Amino acid sequence: SAFDCVVLDGMVVTAADVGRYDIAIKDGKIALLAPARSLAKVQAIRVIEAQGAYVMPGGVDAHVHLSEPQLFGKGRPADDFSTGSRSAIAGGTTTIIAFAPQDRSDPSILNALDEAQRKAQGAAYCDYALHLLISNPTQQALGEFAVLRERGVSSIKIYMTYEVLQLRDNQILDVLLQARKDLVTTMIHAENGDMLTWMTEQLERRRLFAPRYHATSRPQILESEATNRAIALSQLVETPILIVHVSSPLAANNIRTAQTSGLPVYAETCPQYLFLTRKGLDQPGFEGAKCVCSPPPRDGEADLESIWAGIENGTFTILSSDHCPFVYDDSVDGKKSAISADAPLGRFRYIPNGCPGVETRLPLVLSANRLSVEKFVEVTSTNPAKLYGLYPQKGALIPGVSDADLTIWYPPSSLEPFPVTNAALHHNVDYTPYEGHIVSQWPRYTLLRGEVVWDRDNGGVVGQKGYGQFVKRGPSAWCREQPEWDVEKF
Ligand code: URP
Ligand code: ZN
Ligand code: ZN
Ligand code: ZN
Repeated sequence: SAFDCVVLDGMVVTAADVGRYDIAIKDGKIALLAPARSLAKVQAIRVIEAQGAYVMPGGVDAHVHLSEPQLFGKGRPADDFSTGSRSAIAGGTTTIIAFAPQDRSDPSILNALDEAQRKAQGAAYCDYALHLLISNPTQQALGEFAVLRERGVSSIKIYMTYEVLQLRDNQILDVLLQARKDLVTTMIHAENGDMLTWMTEQLERRRLFAPRYHATSRPQILESEATNRAIALSQLVETPILIVHVSSPLAANNIRTAQTSGLPVYAETCPQYLFLTRKGLDQPGFEGAKCVCSPPPRDGEADLESIWAGIENGTFTILSSDHCPFVYDDSVDGKKSAISADAPLGRFRYIPNGCPGVETRLPLVLSANRLSVEKFVEVTSTNPAKLYGLYPQKGALIPGVSDADLTIWYPPSSLEPFPVTNAALHHNVDYTPYEGHIVSQWPRYTLLRGEVVWDRDNGGVVGQKGYGQFVKRGPSAWCREQPEWDVEKF
């Protein structure tokens, strides 16, 4: 056969433009794009009629937690590389970047990388890469950044909060300086950990334990302070940073101001900050636990609007899920771990932080019909690929160059709008915070390196466990080789 697969008559969307094309695939790569129906008669092993539906480069989700140990709070982590990546392809995502968490008592970061690669090996349904999560930046760990780069890991995440993960400012500077030398991209979780600890004590002293006080314990100011501090630290070292999971208008404004003044500050937001509000935490009983993530969902519609606006105006470079799955009902002997006799609605400090969302990310955002489709592809596929050194293998449709990773949606108005239900999802979690949200689109097919791995109407997940491969990454497209940092210039 001339081609392995042809996709006919798609409304093909990239970050740059939209047009009606056929796409041919050979040996797992995009082979060519041609005018619609011009490939109708070529030989191909498989022919997919897109019928005018959107055809996009596969989703790249740059923020996914899988198989991580429970570090604080109570509760049980839910997804491993197998169930998490299965959920990804069912939602149109073909590449995830997951975390390899350093054990704080380990002066090296390479054991964390080995461990994550061992867990992912043979387990994944989609392609995957890894970020190193650094909780103890020893001299040894910093010296190992060069090894990370050789092993195809070009990004790290650090925390300004959580007692067991939080770095001091001088440690953050150490990390940033090493990242500058080795062309590593630093992701920063920006919330002021001391403010959080103090607020939690204030609430608990008043016996305010319920899930809703999770949000009270981490107001916007705590995020915006840490965001400003992270920006200042990166400004001192003159190296790019990416602020992860930005939730609030205050923090978004700080980032925009930094960007306007020319600083290389990038930002990520997530569906929970576009669709969920504090109301989710206010649900009766323990239900509010389903919307406990950090930073928390903010107060109301105006906050959601400002995050949408931040995507439209370019403040946010990428939109990831921050899929961080925990079991909602982890009862042993009929008792949930975060609930005790003196706190019958649960104690928010024990509720694990994070929501599942790797599968719902693309359908929710596309169905909301708020962004141009080019912008949608830019922030959910192309920009994450560029930011983390996967481009143009991922996030693009360049003939002869890009992997044939495609998300093919339903033709216009061929799908009746329907509610999201957890029962229809493919993760290993017993809830979704989006239960009942109406969507009008869902991926009909997902292709990974030319193979159909998700066929919603014929078999669902048809890809094989273990087909997903580790993808070695180069430096960020937005990272530049720089002369040695000069302390005397200050
Ligand atoms: O609540 C969240 N976001 N949990 C995931 C861990 C993190 O900080 O990204
Ligand atoms: Zn985080
Ligand atoms: Zn996260
Ligand atoms: Zn809702």
